[in-house]
Amino acid sequence: MSTYLVTGAAGFIGSVLAKKLVEMGHEVYTIDNLSTGFRENIPELVEFIEGNCQDKNIIEELNNVHFDAIFHLAGQSSGEISFDDPVYDLQTNTQSSLLLLDYALKTECKKVIYASTMSVYGEQPDEPIRETNRLIPKSFYAVGKIASEHYLRIYSEYGLHTTALRLFNVYGPGQNMKNLRQGMVSIFLAQAIDNRHIHVKGSSERYRDFVHIDDVVQAFLMANEDRRAGYNCYNVGTGVRHTVGNLIEKILAHLPFDVTVEYSGSTPGDQFGIYADIQKIRNEIGWSCHISFDEGLKRMTEWAIRAKELNHG
Ligand SMILES: NC(=O)c1ccc[n+]([C@@H]2O[C@H](COP(=O)([O-])OP(=O)(O)OC[C@H]3O[C@@H](n4cnc5c(N)ncnc54)[C@H](O)[C@@H]3O)[C@@H](O)[C@H]2O)c1
Repeated sequence: MSTYLVTGAAGFIGSVLAKKLVEMGHEVYTIDNLSTGFRENIPELVEFIEGNCQDKNIIEELNNVHFDAIFHLAGQSSGEISFDDPVYDLQTNTQSSLLLLDYALKTECKKVIYASTMSVYGEQPDEPIRETNRLIPKSFYAVGKIASEHYLRIYSEYGLHTTALRLFNVYGPGQNMKNLRQGMVSIFLAQAIDNRHIHVKGSSERYRDFVHIDDVVQAFLMANEDRRAGYNCYNVGTGVRHTVGNLIEKILAHLPFDVTVEYSGSTPGDQFGIYADIQKIRNEIGWSCHISFDEGLKRMTEWAIRAKELNHG
């Protein structure tokens, strides 16, 4: 049995990762401030500390427990929201990384795995994007994530094994359907189910790489198994390009009722298009995705409709 810290286990990705680790028989701790997460998402048996990862007093509440690895997922996860309060974004997404890396070093935790983002790339050519591409961030969120990546790299020089996973558009059951400023699939699906109307901010020609939550959690687990030293960063996507128009068509096809669609406005800091080259993660840690977009979207739509019915008794 190993002992892990999964920050942000009340959130979408952290809760699924924490649940999986508990099912595997491990001991799991979490820190979560419940800003976008829900207490009921935190799996049973997880040791929960409520508070901010950028708060030294909260980190001290870990009592110098030695973790086999720290998975740092807690943070503000929207480029758009980072424009509301850039200083808060820096604290929640970057200062938190620094404090956790420092804790890892002090307590001889050898491994830190970080939830970075495809947003670090900004505008790029219409081709699969590699980890070596130049980073041209368009939002404060992306700038903070790049800074965290550099902290990981510097701490690897002190002996930590650090990994940044640049997650592309993660979707799937459990995604927050109330936060209409984060998560393209969840936003459109929530609008469709709640209002029978989808408002798309931006062009239908924009494109993304949609990766299912179960595949993403597997990437975290495999990154943890990777025994190579130093700092590494990997794209976690499918390598498949889908336009926004294509996504909307697929959502409509899965719904048992009619939905109207309107395109107007735009979102600050939004990239026009991006999809991943996934050769590096495949070659170095053996990860690839197993859930096709059609299958994943079908599972998510069924889950979202069921959840809505349950909420309305
Ligand atoms: N969902 C995606 O498509 C996606 C893509 C790229 C990167 N990411 C990154 O993955 C991570 C998890 O994303 P998610 O989709 O699960 O988001 P989420 O909002 O569902 O989960 C984040 C969790 O962290 C908690 N939290 C936020 N700030 C905190 C802080 N300062 N201290 C303690 N807890 C805090 C929230 O309450 C929430 O439970 C984030 O770091 C995000 O930037 C997500």
